[in-house]
Amino acid sequence: MKQQYRLISSTPKPFVKWAGGKRQLLPIIANHVPQKFERYFEPFLGGGAVFFSLVSQGKDAKWIVSDLNSDLVLSYVTIRDRVKELISALESHSANYFKNSNSYYYKIRESNPKGQIEKVSRLVFLNKTCFNGLYRVNSKGKFNVPLGKYVNPNIVNRENLAAVSEVLQSKDISIKCQDFEAALKNAAAGDFVYLDPPYQPVSETANFTSYTGDNFDYSDQERLHAKFKALDKKGVKILLSNSKSDEIIGLFSEFSDNIVEINANRFINSVSQKRTGHTELLIKNY
Ligand SMILES: C[S@@+](CC[C@H](N)C(=O)[O-])C[C@H]1O[C@@H](n2cnc3c(N)ncnc32)[C@H](O)[C@@H]1O
Repeated sequence: MKQQYRLISSTPKPFVKWAGGKRQLLPIIANHVPQKFERYFEPFLGGGAVFFSLVSQGKDAKWIVSDLNSDLVLSYVTIRDRVKELISALESHSANYFKNSNSYYYKIRESNPKGQIEKVSRLVFLNKTCFNGLYRVNSKGKFNVPLGKYVNPNIVNRENLAAVSEVLQSKDISIKCQDFEAALKNAAAGDFVYLDPPYQPVSETANFTSYTGDNFDYSDQERLHAKFKALDKKGVKILLSNSKSDEIIGLFSEFSDNIVEINANRFINSVSQKRTGHTELLIKNY
């Protein structure tokens, strides 16, 4: 009998490393996710660590995920709809990279492709090979991270890309590029919302907010707080990650009975001493 081989790994995982990624905190976050919900909203999706972990548990729910970063959202859509073409493009990047990593990396970094596959394969390639593996653009929206020091970066993770593609196609999932307020407009009682915004900086020098080129400033944290309260009134369950900063503790003081402190490692700062453990918050309304 002819055997069929399928490119599927058990659980889909983030296909890019993302600033503020939640992979390390998954076991703690999982403890706070409600058992049941009708719809799951994640409007600051990033690499999607929490979403991928929940969506592959076989829960019967609808999944509404979004992010303001259009290149990132295009990547999700491309993996869902055109994964084979994307894998081929990444294979070509990989082959060229291993011929001369330095010159090829900077050639691709300076390029500005217009086609969907070219754009997304460039984003994934740079994410896998750049310093610290973080997507970071400057104020002009340009990717400006230098080449990383990887000996053998896994530029084409076929199994994971196939697993991500399959889950995105098979489940009841909506993926959009939009601001969090628009994304949460229709959330209602019975729904669960996980919020992982750019964090309020704890010190003057910490700049955790440049994901899209636009800063998520204090007025955005206030907007988020207003949305949190409005959803709470509607009977939506909400779980919010943020920094343990005076501003956030002050804004969410009325939910102080449901604030959990957790220890986390933040790998965003390239100065290794600054990667030591710190405390962040999980704020709930249930
Ligand atoms: C902390 S990251 C999320 C990390 C994610 N949980 C993970 O595991 O990778 C925050 C995300 O919010 C997005 N973002 C920034 N401002 C936004 C806004 N106003 N509305 C929606 N998303 C926004 C950024 O593009 C970024 O992907």
